[in-house]
Amino acid sequence: MCGIVGAVSQRNVVPMLIEGLRRLEYRGYDSCGIAVHRTGKPRRARCTARVNSLARTISDIHLEGSLGIAHTRWATHGAPATMNAHPIFSRDLIAIVHNGIIENHESLKAMLVEQGYEFQTETDTEVIAHLVHSFYDGDLLSAVMRSTHMFRGTYAIAAFSNSEPGRMVGAREGSPLVAGIGETETFLASDALALAGYTNRFVFLEDGDVVDLKPGQVTVWDRDRRSVERPNRLIEQSLEDTSLGSFSHYMQKEIFEQPLAITNTLANVASLGSSIFEDADRSTFENVDKVLLLGCGTSHHAGLVARQWFESVARVPAQAEIASEFRYREQCHDPRTLVVPVSQSGETADTLAALKYAQAMGLDNTLAIGNVANSAMMRAARSRFQTRAGVEIGVASSKAFTTQLVALFLLAATLGRVRGTLSSQQETSYLQQLHKLPVACRAVLAKEPQVIAWANEISTRESAFYLGRGVHFPIAMEGALKLKEIAYIHAEAYAAGELKHGPLALVTPDTPAVVSAPNDALLDKLKSNMQEVRARGGQLFVITDNGAGIPSGSGTRTLETGAHFGLLSPILHVLPMQLLAYHSGCARHTDIDKPRNLAKSVTVE
Ligand code: F6R
Repeated sequence: MCGIVGAVSQRNVVPMLIEGLRRLEYRGYDSCGIAVHRTGKPRRARCTARVNSLARTISDIHLEGSLGIAHTRWATHGAPATMNAHPIFSRDLIAIVHNGIIENHESLKAMLVEQGYEFQTETDTEVIAHLVHSFYDGDLLSAVMRSTHMFRGTYAIAAFSNSEPGRMVGAREGSPLVAGIGETETFLASDALALAGYTNRFVFLEDGDVVDLKPGQVTVWDRDRRSVERPNRLIEQSLEDTSLGSFSHYMQKEIFEQPLAITNTLANVASLGSSIFEDADRSTFENVDKVLLLGCGTSHHAGLVARQWFESVARVPAQAEIASEFRYREQCHDPRTLVVPVSQSGETADTLAALKYAQAMGLDNTLAIGNVANSAMMRAARSRFQTRAGVEIGVASSKAFTTQLVALFLLAATLGRVRGTLSSQQETSYLQQLHKLPVACRAVLAKEPQVIAWANEISTRESAFYLGRGVHFPIAMEGALKLKEIAYIHAEAYAAGELKHGPLALVTPDTPAVVSAPNDALLDKLKSNMQEVRARGGQLFVITDNGAGIPSGSGTRTLETGAHFGLLSPILHVLPMQLLAYHSGCARHTDIDKPRNLAKSVTVE
């Protein structure tokens, strides 16, 4: 989704802005641009191509400047066109980049048109530029402050005025924004990652903040326009190896990185207890009558799997909620609820809002599970666990999902340990099983050639069912989501027992059913459900365990993941589904790492 980088310095900042945009590319975008302060009027370059192409244009036109703002845009209001790309100017004086959505942009636009402003774009952002211009009397900070009071919606903004050469102003409400402080220069970015290598000192802005940046100097005002000291955080960011190596796509690379990501996530876990979780203590787990898991998309699926672990391992009632629904529903909540937002990015607007909604209801025992340290969600929660998946570049979540599951299992087991529902023998056995996961994952990933053969068949179909039961039903949901987003094939997940209540009517020889069939207590029931599909000519693609007794034969193909892996089995069964979506996408020549219409970090509602 949209990304912001800005810099004010005494040297040419354009190379740094381009580098920052490159680091934000993984979030997904459809156009990009950069603007710099110049005597006379600001200059900019924008395009609907990739950042590399923008960089070539910039070098051709010799765009340089010591104050600049840059943007990757993921279209919400207005088509992905050059004219709608940011930075957006108002009367060649004010330059703005914006993430988020100004919900009252229509009424603001009507007011500005009355004042004589002409709109050149279809974006909501243009009202910000003109509004700031309308309040501008030589002091950008006060113009931005006055403007932000009139916005409804979400925004992260970076702005400069062409008549104030050494100054950049930022503001945030609901969308991420971080200021970076160097010796003689300052920066703004929607993700600290964009500034790696340029500074390691950051100020994470809070909602309602406005920030004034001059070379080497950052001043923050809060919602009430009082000057505030926000903590400076020193963050050493290693520039991770983001090369593809021998892989064809980041998604494939990230699927194969899962054994390492799980090993890293478990690196310091020798026993269960509150010390595994940052800022947690016994009270985080002791006074819990209920667990509420909040997330979107794949992260919600992780919550759905974990819900069952909380109930079976910790014997605590658990509920997994789609964050975008939860945030708008009236709730009756037990104050002894442990609220667990789950998010790869830690910036997903709906999950963040759901967390804040829960906090506003007085649920303050919150523990975030996220992959990005210092993200808004990790900062907003009282305690946290960082998964160590490393940067995930492919838009589709893969290694983030399996490490979320590992983290959630640790949380469920810790809760069980503190509540006394888990014996020390069980603790030892679960920990051993967790530490065996990377090897077991490698064995499943080695079956890629078999999955490619499946993908060659499934990629020719227009729709598919995904079936599972119990803790494997959310895995079927995850498999279906992956096939939709990566291969653009319609896929629906069903709890296998539900088929006969309607969807069986759609089963024909052209409708493949991908089944997660672990060798567990529900296997016989699942076999009956598979028979219902076979009897209607449906083709079965079954992910199962050794000894499950599901032979490959006419109309049924099986892939064995190894011996049944107990409660952690969902982590192994999802791997062939990720590969199946990936290879089906390859067969259909889709844009695997940047699927159409999607973005990595969804910072708008
Ligand atoms: C699907 C996918 C999305 C994300 C969702 C939440 O492959 O990646 O469904 O899981 O947008 O994102 P995070 O986890 O960053 O909150």
